[in-house]
Amino acid sequence: MATDPTVKGTMTSPLLSRRNILLGGFGIAATATVAACTTPAPGKAGMPSRTFGAPAPLSPSPSQRLVEKTLVAKPVSLDLGGRIVSTWAYDGTLPGPLVRATAGDFLRVSLDNQLPADTTIHWHGIRLRNAADGVPGLTQDPISSGTKYVYEFTAPDPGTYFFHPHVGVQLDRGLYAPMIIDDPNEAGDYDAEWIVVLDDWIDGTGTTPDDVLKKLIADGGPASSGGMGGMDHGSMGGMDHGSMGGMSMGTPPWGDAGDVTYPFFLINGKPPTDPDVLTAKPGQRIRLRVINAASDTIFTVTLGGHRLTITHSDGHAVEPTEVGAFYIGMGERYDAIVTLGDGVFPLVARPFGKTSGGQAIAVVRTGSGSAPAVDAAPAELSGQVLIGSQLRPAESAKLPDRAPDATVDLALQGSMKPYQWGMNGAKFGENEPLTVKAGQRLRINATNQTMMTHPLHLHGHTFALPSGLRKDTVLMAPMQSFAIDLDADNAGDWMIHCHNIYHAEAGMMIALEYAT
Ligand code: C2O
Ligand code: CU
Repeated sequence: MATDPTVKGTMTSPLLSRRNILLGGFGIAATATVAACTTPAPGKAGMPSRTFGAPAPLSPSPSQRLVEKTLVAKPVSLDLGGRIVSTWAYDGTLPGPLVRATAGDFLRVSLDNQLPADTTIHWHGIRLRNAADGVPGLTQDPISSGTKYVYEFTAPDPGTYFFHPHVGVQLDRGLYAPMIIDDPNEAGDYDAEWIVVLDDWIDGTGTTPDDVLKKLIADGGPASSGGMGGMDHGSMGGMDHGSMGGMSMGTPPWGDAGDVTYPFFLINGKPPTDPDVLTAKPGQRIRLRVINAASDTIFTVTLGGHRLTITHSDGHAVEPTEVGAFYIGMGERYDAIVTLGDGVFPLVARPFGKTSGGQAIAVVRTGSGSAPAVDAAPAELSGQVLIGSQLRPAESAKLPDRAPDATVDLALQGSMKPYQWGMNGAKFGENEPLTVKAGQRLRINATNQTMMTHPLHLHGHTFALPSGLRKDTVLMAPMQSFAIDLDADNAGDWMIHCHNIYHAEAGMMIALEYAT
């Protein structure tokens, strides 16, 4: 598998002139309040957020199994390798408790909000009914402090998922947990399964994610003082690329991949000084389900001394592909099968392009031997690293062949200085929603017009890349374009956004609405 992304070299776009006009809306964003996610006003600036009231109770159909769960979101102190941090977490654990069901099951999950703030839960990647999607102002009212809310939905597709709040930058606290939907028809050709949840950690280390976002915006400063000169983050979509004079795209393939300096990186809620230990017998086949729950970090994942066979991307089957290491963006999930050797091995998730905070590591133990060093650097990290969007879909995962009925453009835009991010010419709440009609095959021509990498995420559907690969979250390198196709088979109002949670909260989101 090649290591070069299909970066388009083009530095101009037919959208530029239109965008230059629309970008007026960005001019004030640097000093604006931080409220894109918490008070969305889809469609029109200043439009009040919609209200929804309590959800109408549902019940499973006679053929459906009911899976019930209660989650408590609350403040908690956690011990990260001897460092005590105060944070917010589900049931006080990191990651939160696993929610597991079988495809077709009816889930009823009650959230008890004991946080000192509004929250919601978004079931990331699940093709569920719109009312359970967890986006305040778009699909439900925010769940206020001290109240409960019941999510009821059918989980139709097997796969590896996770869930997290869709309010502010709460995802960058401890509020995330894995969700597995099992395939009743799958042989399960492995001896054991390990869920591997990756995270970048800063909450309670003298700051909070809310403070981090405030600082990003403050440091970006007003457009007049920040300017583009000399910055290594690159362009607001509308700027004249010619003036960037020789500015490089940074380290391939992702260039500038993150904004935040994290003190720790975690696997399954544990830092390298107190790593998770995964034990098995030599020769056993393990299914890894790797979830990147980080807010601002792309990881390179490897199990030292092993080859990994990637079998699924964002829940969908791919042509099995053997790799030494792979990239995983925020919000992406990859499943892999590995046959274990005899000994002790480092499972490493190395942050892409970050020079401090070390790496995330877990220990895989099938025999005797001492634990790997916290800075273990398996040879696989310097070999070829798979770019997930280059995987090929399994036949069973392909969308039926069909020409698009409609096409829309989606431009990812913004800059670090000033810290402004948006889509199609303005930040969320000021940009026009994309629309689709039920039953259409919609093609979205997505273009990253910035010098950072963004994980593009779609709610309520999965899309197909031109290769047919099905995903709900895809890493877009600087200046990279993808034509992504989706079948409009799930009516409602949905989000499309960057899964860098700081970018999203600063406005890098847009709504996709079903026209009636
Ligand atoms: Cu995991 Cu709207 O995102
Ligand atoms: Cu982004």
